Amino acid sequence: GRVAVLMGGNSSEREVSLDSGRNVLEALRSRGVAAHAVDGIPNLLRELQGKEFDRVFNILHGGDGENGVLQGLLQTMGVPYTGSGVLGSALAMDKIRSKQVWLSLGLPTPRYLRLQKGNDVHAAARELGLPVIVKPSCEGSSVGVSRVLADADVDAAVELAIRYPGELLMEQMIVGDELTVGILGNVALPSIRIVPKGQWYDYHAKYVAEDTQYLCPGLSGVEEEEIQRLALAAFESAGCSGWGRVDVMRDRDSGDLYLLEANTAPGMTSHSLVPKAARQVGIEFDELCWRILEMTV
Ligand code: DAL
Ligand code: MG
Repeated sequence: GRVAVLMGGNSSEREVSLDSGRNVLEALRSRGVAAHAVDGIPNLLRELQGKEFDRVFNILHGGDGENGVLQGLLQTMGVPYTGSGVLGSALAMDKIRSKQVWLSLGLPTPRYLRLQKGNDVHAAARELGLPVIVKPSCEGSSVGVSRVLADADVDAAVELAIRYPGELLMEQMIVGDELTVGILGNVALPSIRIVPKGQWYDYHAKYVAEDTQYLCPGLSGVEEEEIQRLALAAFESAGCSGWGRVDVMRDRDSGDLYLLEANTAPGMTSHSLVPKAARQVGIEFDELCWRILEMTV
């Protein structure tokens, strides 16, 4: 049957999604799948009225494509789709709620405070202890995220994050290694350690820079086993399924791991992480896309 590759949309990650989507489209076609690009949820709904597609490969990043809204629509319409369902998508898109679930289960995540209107943000920074990170709870690709090293930078960080929809959080900054673990089915792929040339793995380092280094596997021995186990536990406890990616920090001094977030429609650009981790275990990009599609429920 025909497969809609749903991409683009109107979130802050539109351009990233178009890039991911084009790659997925090409990969599926190379495997003989009748795949067609659809830009955004309204267009998909129109096309589904004509019953044109019988499956959706969702590669929308952020917004209603990744937060459960799309998943609820498709579920109601009886159209199978890739990735997590309503609950996993909604929880993973909300960093504050993800942390609450993980903390309730004893899974490690950096200490944080939810910032609400009228809060003294300087007092919040003091309570957590500088350095801290300020971010929108429901964005992706580091959009709206600031590192706050000094008290004087708190206000600018809040002003940036507040431009995006949803709540804000301030989080203790873990100084150390940035790691990520791709998930395919119920298996954790080898971790990747990201070594950005600049200060941190921001939007530029993610999609533009050619000098970001990726080490895969990112850890060795029992540490690698531990991060894979942690990532799977984080993914499953947030109700996620199918495929995704869990981002983790490793404290430079103690080696302790901390969960940052789960992503239910992670990037599939030429710079992206899940494709790199899959390749490490012999799964080429075309095969990866095919497997994700085959897990559709
Ligand atoms: N939100 C971006 C696309 C990612 O997690 O890869
Ligand atoms: Mg994310």
